[in-house]
Amino acid sequence: MVSKNFLFYTFGIILYCTSMNQIQTYIAKHKSRFITELIELLKIPSISADPAFKNEVLKTAEAIKTSLQQAGCDHVEICETAGYPVVFGEKIINPSLPTVLVYGHYDVQPPDPIDLWDSPPFEPVVKTTERHPDGAIFARGACDDKGQLYMHVKALEFMTATNQLPCNVKFMIEGEEEVGSANLSTFIKQNHEKLKNDVILISDTGMIANNTPSITTGLRGLSYVEVEVTGPNRDLHSGLYGGAVANPINILTTMIASLHDDSNRITIPGFYNKVEELSKAERAEMAKAPFSIESYKKALDIDDVYGESGYSTNERNSIRPTLDVNGIWGGYTGEGAKTVIPSKAYAKISMRLVPNQDWEEITKLFKTHFENIAPKGVKIKVKPHHGGQGYVTPINSIGYQAASKAYEQTFGKIPIPQRSGGSIPIVSLFEHELKSKTILMGFGLDSDAIHSPNEHFGIWNYLKGIETIPLFYKHFTALSK
Ligand code: BES
Ligand code: MN
Ligand code: MN
Repeated sequence: MVSKNFLFYTFGIILYCTSMNQIQTYIAKHKSRFITELIELLKIPSISADPAFKNEVLKTAEAIKTSLQQAGCDHVEICETAGYPVVFGEKIINPSLPTVLVYGHYDVQPPDPIDLWDSPPFEPVVKTTERHPDGAIFARGACDDKGQLYMHVKALEFMTATNQLPCNVKFMIEGEEEVGSANLSTFIKQNHEKLKNDVILISDTGMIANNTPSITTGLRGLSYVEVEVTGPNRDLHSGLYGGAVANPINILTTMIASLHDDSNRITIPGFYNKVEELSKAERAEMAKAPFSIESYKKALDIDDVYGESGYSTNERNSIRPTLDVNGIWGGYTGEGAKTVIPSKAYAKISMRLVPNQDWEEITKLFKTHFENIAPKGVKIKVKPHHGGQGYVTPINSIGYQAASKAYEQTFGKIPIPQRSGGSIPIVSLFEHELKSKTILMGFGLDSDAIHSPNEHFGIWNYLKGIETIPLFYKHFTALSK
């Protein structure tokens, strides 16, 4: 006699398999290969900021090229630029159908401070975390952006392998995003025809939580500057000269402190002139997104949040501009004590901007103000690094609607539109040069520690991305008709 357990078990399997759709079945079958392929990519230290890693960055471009070829692109090439190359790939099935252009970056941030990693940054390991009970891959670039761009490669593999690609697809994967994409604008300006598309799709942002899908509808702009304060022409004995000449570190820190007022507003004249003020209704809509200030504080081990008066935490880090010191140095920082008044002091400062603020104009305002507030006795140099404009996307576009439907199917919930505080400066250039809108379908979590030690990407998120992306193509093609 057949046991009751056996019948239940068999029936369960049949029910499970029939409830899985084709993409889920494909993912279940190829899951371990998808993970090992990503792990191989993560082993290459493609640190664009450090020239010592030049060969590794170039090797990563080659690896991306091979993966695009294997996934089914008909034509893949490595396009030289004045910096690191752009990997371009395409599969054109019918020129009269819409074209999706996927953008991503294969370069990563430096792993410093390396001592704070629990495992080496370029030797990926899988571990579970509170937010990722199914495991997460720990490595530099796991989430930003190798893991997220690779979801698109695997989604293409699925669509070509099962003959389900509903439209044309192009890939443009760059190697200089983490250092400001300085050569990408020239590449875009020179390749309008090659990059021609109906929508740009990027996974290089995050979402609220695994049970709360969201689509990023805004990015902040950025102005990044370095300042140098010079006092005396050489380092001086702090006893012999102390009190009689300007100490560049004392001056620099005083100047920096004056850049915010008591309400934590930025004091640079004209800084807020073009800032878009959101309506009460828009702010009320934003406030509906689930958010717990208590868990936020707990996750960061802080006893209170801090920022501009009159705005909530979620507003402060998305719709409001900011000014932050990213690094400050000068004088003696070695072992023990050395009595010295340094000749120079330095700081790196970033300003996150909101739509309508022009980054070049803000950089000028900063420079003029910083020079103006310097006291006599020091010389000031302001060196602009890089920057870019912010971006907002409407939620009534075909692209947004297609993305929303895709998430609804795979997450079982309508995604929440949410503005992010991060920056991908090239997105506004896409709009100006290629006249296309970008859809930001990010699958990372804020807790994934991008740019930090122990960066990771949830395996659930990785696979969910691969599952959701083909549905975007399907809905976008259908809605374009
Ligand atoms: N992927 C990030 C940007 C991001 C992350 C946006 C999460 C939204 C949510 C990107 O790689 C990045 O780090 N951008 C830099 C700017 C760039 C010019 C160096 C940034 O935001 O600091
Ligand atoms: Mn990124
Ligand atoms: Mn980044």
